[in-house]
Amino acid sequence: MNFELSEEQLAVQAAAREFAQIELLPGVIERDNEQKFPAEQVKKLGELGFMGMMVDPKYNGGGMDTLSYVIAIEELSKIDASASVSMSVNNSLVCWGLEKYGTEEQKQKYLTKLAAGEVIGAFCLSEPEAGSDATSQKTTAEDKGDHYILNGTKNWITNGNSASVYLVIAQTDASKGHKGISAFIVEKGWEGFVIGKKEDKMGIRGSDTHSLMFTDVKVPKENRIGAEGFGFTFAMETLNGGRIGIAAQALGIAAGALEASIKYAKERKAFGVEIAKHQAIQFKLADMATEIEAARLLVYKSAALKDAGQDYAHASAMAKLYASEVAMKVTTEAVQVHGGYGYVKEYHVERMMRDAKITQIYEGTSEIQKIVISRGLLR
Ligand code: CAA
Repeated sequence: MNFELSEEQLAVQAAAREFAQIELLPGVIERDNEQKFPAEQVKKLGELGFMGMMVDPKYNGGGMDTLSYVIAIEELSKIDASASVSMSVNNSLVCWGLEKYGTEEQKQKYLTKLAAGEVIGAFCLSEPEAGSDATSQKTTAEDKGDHYILNGTKNWITNGNSASVYLVIAQTDASKGHKGISAFIVEKGWEGFVIGKKEDKMGIRGSDTHSLMFTDVKVPKENRIGAEGFGFTFAMETLNGGRIGIAAQALGIAAGALEASIKYAKERKAFGVEIAKHQAIQFKLADMATEIEAARLLVYKSAALKDAGQDYAHASAMAKLYASEVAMKVTTEAVQVHGGYGYVKEYHVERMMRDAKITQIYEGTSEIQKIVISRGLLR
């Protein structure tokens, strides 16, 4: 077992850390307050190759491994989890599935632009009445010969307004249950496709989360991904990888909160000494660091399994489950370490605590991860 990062991985880590400090940190509080999508910053991430890190260079990707991707998300999430989720969705939920299951034509037309960061992608599975119960899709795609007619509503879509390319999961044959679900590529601007309301969220407020409405949207047949009926498996496989990205985001939020807490503990004085000299604070920092390290091992292991071509569904669910719980716990402790200053925006940790919560919800709640893990155990 090798715990050393390669030179390339260390270079990715340094580049992401620098980007986070220089490009994301100034303005992160303002974007959170104003619910402002970090458009310029995400564009720069694209120019630096972060939006399609694992995609083959022949489709404009970075050709990197999953571990490099995880390390980059971790560094960006220490500072701005709204920017990192945009990047994670584009890499894991959009580029990955298109590269693995798209036709050569789809890759040339869409993947090349998504991987280069010229356009942003969104993944559209959740519906008003189909969140955890993803098989209950109400959005329909009716076969009309050379095209499908898409009708329905999607909810809580990350990159909902900033995206140009949407992977939409819809039912093509209700009688077949999950085997009657298919996946499609839909472009922004197509007639009948309306971007709905922006959600006013507790955390990741810089990320633009929208509902989407499709009314008689004409989708060419060549925009279906894989065979008809493959959409549910497509979504599940995509989410297996997506969960590694969200686990890395949770890890980064927690690590960012620890870094902020250590800095604060060395500066703030109480009872005549820096609070870092009090054992009450030292014990908190030690627990936070230990749990973060355990989460990191799970997250890196799931990435390493994916890179080794092994089954990673179980490992990615474990990584997301644990890292998101650590993120919630560590950020709550970080607020406690900061005392009154932790409860105000200037010190960042209150935002981190709000941001951490979503990692226990999206790309499958903690309860869904437990279902995936226990099914693997009992199979
Ligand atoms: N990997 C691969 N295949 C899987 C799978 C997985 N993790 N989970 C299920 N499947 C397959 C099963 O093998 C089965 O296939 P076959 O019929 O060919 O054998 C098929 O899918 C149906 O499986 P189940 O009978 O287990 O289906 P189910 O209805 O009982 O539920 C579930 C499965 C795990 C609960 C699933 O519905 C699920 O993961 N739900 C959560 C959905 C989710 O994560 N949503 C997040 C939205 S995306 C998002 O948040 C993105 C964002 O914007 C940030």
